[in-house]
Amino acid sequence: MLSRTPPMGFNTWNTFGENINDEMIRQTADKMVELGLRDAGYEYLVIDDCWSEKERDEATGKIIPDHVKFPNGMKAVSDYVHSKGLKFGMYSCAGVRTCADYPGSFDHEFLDARTFAEYGADFLKYDFCNKPEYADGPLLYKRMSMALKSCGREILFSACNWGCDEVNTWIRSVGAHMYRSTGDINDSFRSVRDLFISQLDHYAYSAPGCFNDIDMLIAGMYAEGNVGAGGCTDTEYKTHFALWCIASSPLMIGCDIRKINDTTLNLLKNKNLIRINQDEEGRPPMIVFNHDEGRRLGLVKVLSDNEFAVMLANLSDSPCGMHMWLEDIGLPAAAGKGLRLKDAFTDEDRGVIKEKLCQEVAPHDCALYLAKLADV
Ligand code: GLA
Repeated sequence: MLSRTPPMGFNTWNTFGENINDEMIRQTADKMVELGLRDAGYEYLVIDDCWSEKERDEATGKIIPDHVKFPNGMKAVSDYVHSKGLKFGMYSCAGVRTCADYPGSFDHEFLDARTFAEYGADFLKYDFCNKPEYADGPLLYKRMSMALKSCGREILFSACNWGCDEVNTWIRSVGAHMYRSTGDINDSFRSVRDLFISQLDHYAYSAPGCFNDIDMLIAGMYAEGNVGAGGCTDTEYKTHFALWCIASSPLMIGCDIRKINDTTLNLLKNKNLIRINQDEEGRPPMIVFNHDEGRRLGLVKVLSDNEFAVMLANLSDSPCGMHMWLEDIGLPAAAGKGLRLKDAFTDEDRGVIKEKLCQEVAPHDCALYLAKLADV
């Protein structure tokens, strides 16, 4: 089964945009292994838009890789990625042209799926730009899903229609393994906050087999690259990653892994956060409280093995004393039970709390705990 837990990997778009080539893909693959990211679970290396020639091959009708960016063809790149124990991802679009104006798969779905299978692709991100007006959006995702299922290779289907047509209500039925539910992220805390809050009513649709993708990670970009925007602080990246983890969003790294610093690397490899994201039950978080339109959130994700992830997220611009009543997650004072907390970022034991969790949280910061039931 694909997508039993939220897919993890790297995608070229956030940092590289159209500046992609054979060499940087190989270097990225090397680094994913060397830095332990592959072993932490980041297994897909995905090439986003701008990888092909501007027109299809006249004779065969196939999309062909840009001969300057990928002089050895795509199979060679894919073979290299596979030789590193990673999986290989490609990109196309449901419309006639991709978002960056390269050939899209409209009316070529079955041919293109076979082409991706020939490359040895394990993953396809499928975008939504330049759809002919008469074409039905959901039908185009059905078509590519069928094309992938008939191409002779197991390929994870990453649908990317930005939440159009109430995607959460039908995309699982169609056979996709993850689905973008939002517009594009950029490297700013405002974008992180807006994307996360936009899905508060929709996380319950996300589950093993098909996860809600709130877009690729910006952690470690520091304003550089294609979706650079103003950049974030390390505290903001920490909150961003924690939110994506508790929401069971796919975790696709978007910074330049070749230049990643230790702070970002340690965050992205944090075992507790990955455990929260990758929990096999794949449950959506309970929204325990939501104040000021998502600016202050209390979230609890029920995990397997009687564990819980408990989060206080202050997405507002001022410090906040935050309170979560355990009664609101089903633990009234009379139950004689509290929670033993372990700080997910530092691994520190924070003892047992009863009745409520109270904590001052700085702006754009969060507290995240792994918790177990305890007698009080
Ligand atoms: C859309 C997608 C992005 C990226 C670009 C590529 O905007 O949402 O994630 O794939 O297209 O052009």
